[in-house]
Amino acid sequence: GLEIGKLLSTEGVVTLDPGYTNTGSTTSKITYIDGDAGILRYRGYPIEQLAEKSSFLEVSYLLIHGELPSKDELQAFTDRISRHTLLHEDLKRFFDGFPRDAHPMPVLSSAVSALSTFYQDSLDPFNKDQVELSTVRLLAKLPTIAAYAHRKSVGQPLLYPDNSMTLVENFLRMCFGFPAEPYEVNPKLAKALDLLFILHADHEQNCSTSTVRLVGSAHTNLFASVSAGIHALAGPLHGGANSAVLEMLDAIQADGGDIKSFVKRVKDKEPGVKLMGFGHRVYKNYDPRAAIVKATADDILNELHVTDPRLELAKELEQVALTDDYFISRKLYPNVDFYTGLIYKAMGFPTKFFTVLFAIGRLPGWIAQWREMIEDPASKIGRPRQVYVGETERDYVPMDKR
Ligand code: ACO
Repeated sequence: GLEIGKLLSTEGVVTLDPGYTNTGSTTSKITYIDGDAGILRYRGYPIEQLAEKSSFLEVSYLLIHGELPSKDELQAFTDRISRHTLLHEDLKRFFDGFPRDAHPMPVLSSAVSALSTFYQDSLDPFNKDQVELSTVRLLAKLPTIAAYAHRKSVGQPLLYPDNSMTLVENFLRMCFGFPAEPYEVNPKLAKALDLLFILHADHEQNCSTSTVRLVGSAHTNLFASVSAGIHALAGPLHGGANSAVLEMLDAIQADGGDIKSFVKRVKDKEPGVKLMGFGHRVYKNYDPRAAIVKATADDILNELHVTDPRLELAKELEQVALTDDYFISRKLYPNVDFYTGLIYKAMGFPTKFFTVLFAIGRLPGWIAQWREMIEDPASKIGRPRQVYVGETERDYVPMDKR
């Protein structure tokens, strides 16, 4: 519910809405969600159709430019991106400076932040060519940065991008290939990862996207705004939930697969115990992305010849939750993160890396939303109000009187 605060400002009554549950921060033409009906559309196109028929770069173009590209437009966009996948050699040295066991999300965010020091010719938010250049640079370089973060964490050599491959194939090769050894891309694996990127590509004013917009509302450059978004995404209540789901499944398995006692701990609201991958601020129905991921999880695991008992455990857990009044009454359904971790694990990614994959997928959405805001003549610096509830005026107390 919305509480009306006590404060009257020169603009009128200040509303108090913790977590912005009912407060719109912007108008937008990018993504439509009907949380009660479980509908998600990018620029009007249903997510199910895009998942089936489109590709990640085509969806990126759609989100950023507003329309599906023609064949030539997509080719030009793709070619331009593939010419920007290399990182400046000095930026590569950053990866040597971080501790090997560092979490890859702050490594990713730091490297993206550093792009604004290496590519100073594309920082002006109001120069359309520069914005397009920083857009291309981000889309091209984030997979390279992500792959390098992974390679460093496992002590393996960094591979230069191979621009004859698609963005996703190239990313897989940089994550899993070795120098002087041909890397055979499994086309089904590449397709599956491309699909997961499409499903994550935008989700209107979620925590990380709102962060990107808020930081950018001060006319901060795109690299720095996206870097802030990556930090927001890392939290376990947001993108970090995909890693947390697998850790939860591991813990249940280690406990002998006792789902019922785990669910009881969740319902008893034991501190820190939640059913990760369940619940959503907007969806009060099955998350349509989760439905697509669930439907493909079996196929992908079969294709990769992986049998993972945690997939069965996840399905049982979902069944128990969906028939339990605690979850029914609160309209808690699986969100996109519930099944993705199992797929990422089957693909060979370490658990800590899952949120990095989410960031690569979400990048076009962040860019599209930042650009929409910058291009909107009505947009203003984001500056929420507050209702002050602290001490009224009082006199300073000298140290010897306290
Ligand atoms: N497990 C158990 N109980 C839950 C869960 C959950 N996953 N999610 C919500 N609840 C309960 C709350 O305890 C609360 O109960 P109450 O009414 O008795 O106090 C009620 O459901 C409403 O939950 P809120 O926390 O008020 O809902 P909110 O919209 O603020 O939070 C959120 C949404 C953060 C996603 C929450 O559902 C959650 O923490 N889920 C687990 C983490 C997760 O999967 N995050 C990924 C979100 S999707 C994404 O970012 C890609």
